[in-house]
Amino acid sequence: MLLKKLGKTDQRISAIGIGVTATGGSGSSSRESNLNRVYGIRAGVDLGLTFIDTAELYGGGQSERIIGEAVAGIRDQVFLATKFRPEHASATGIRQALEGSLRRLNTEWVDLYQMHWPGSPCRFPTDETVESLVKLRAEGKIRHIGLSNFTTAEFEHTQYASNCIIVSNQLEYNPKERSIELEWIPFAERTDITTIAYSPFSQGSLQIDSPEFEKIREIAQAHEVTVHQIILAWVVSKPTVITVPKAANVDHVRQNAGALDIRLTTEELNKIDEASFREIKQVEPYRIRIGNLRGKPGYLSRKEAEENKLDLVPDPRGLADNIRRWGIQKPLPLAVISDADEPYEYEMIGNNLLYWAWVLAWGTDRPVPAYVFGKYEARGR
Ligand SMILES: NC(=O)c1ccc[n+]([C@@H]2O[C@H](COP(=O)([O-])OP(=O)(O)OC[C@H]3O[C@@H](n4cnc5c(N)ncnc54)[C@H](OP(=O)(O)O)[C@@H]3O)[C@@H](O)[C@H]2O)c1
Repeated sequence: MLLKKLGKTDQRISAIGIGVTATGGSGSSSRESNLNRVYGIRAGVDLGLTFIDTAELYGGGQSERIIGEAVAGIRDQVFLATKFRPEHASATGIRQALEGSLRRLNTEWVDLYQMHWPGSPCRFPTDETVESLVKLRAEGKIRHIGLSNFTTAEFEHTQYASNCIIVSNQLEYNPKERSIELEWIPFAERTDITTIAYSPFSQGSLQIDSPEFEKIREIAQAHEVTVHQIILAWVVSKPTVITVPKAANVDHVRQNAGALDIRLTTEELNKIDEASFREIKQVEPYRIRIGNLRGKPGYLSRKEAEENKLDLVPDPRGLADNIRRWGIQKPLPLAVISDADEPYEYEMIGNNLLYWAWVLAWGTDRPVPAYVFGKYEARGR
């Protein structure tokens, strides 16, 4: 069973945990699916997935409520991580946000309290935020302080300016999005910061039957496990990385727990690295079609993005400020359009807010970093 150290602390956490994102409302079928989630979380904890991650944002608090139900009576066996929205980062805002999370989570303390996203216009937690977090920690309401979606430079700045120990940063990491390997992971390994890898399965969009996964399928076969289990073992093979897959299906929960016992050889890890390597290209936004949101919330015009009527996080205008100010370079996922009659060469297949933030920051001529997927690999996004 793989346990890892949290940052520079003596706290041990499970290398694979459970991510709990939005589910249901109050209807009966939702109630049923919520009960399944409760059951899934308890089954996961029994099998060693004791790190549970959520956020006040997810499902408007519903995800925290589900966890609250699931951990009743077993609170001491789990490590609970949640996040506050940057809009709640003032002294009163953060206290209120935490009280809400504690109530929904049915607990007196949160083990890891994370700032969900860098704020805007100030990209960093302000002195007020940091002082509030330190105070809440001294009161025993939170045990550790973490960040989420911070670039390396921003993390370093925050760590230095706040002079308070920040133990972790939560970032996207999976075979389709490996950009944190360039700067963040070496930094985190050097400075002993835990990376909490989110969306290890690219939100369920991995095309594991595609040719790109052939080598990984072979490795899975050799270990008599699934491709998804191999992916988890690969993600947590980096010394300071842990991960929080979301799994509503209890069989998935069991498989994810099974991945805690898989050990990959260096040769296997190298093969997976090679098979999932993807160059970061530079593509001008005017060459990208944005007509299809694939059922996900997002915007189809610059005006809509500026207004952010759906109150999406991060706010595209705020993110644009930060892209300009801090030179953020997260790659945009694109698919090639092969139709010769089509005026565009690429189609956006995710991260709509990042696209608009880039356009608001730099216009449509300045190339955006991008991962370009073939039609087959882009399916399911
Ligand atoms: N900090 C941030 O800004 C941020 C952003 C996104 C996510 N997160 C965190 O990361 C967590 C996970 O990320 P995610 O929700 O984006 O998606 P994900 O974990 O990459 O993918 C979830 C999908 O994978 C499927 N799955 C789970 N286990 C599987 C298995 N063993 N075999 C096959 N399929 C499996 C799930 O199906 P079933 O549900 O049907 O089992 C679901 O469709 C979230 O819950 C959240 O805690 C954080």
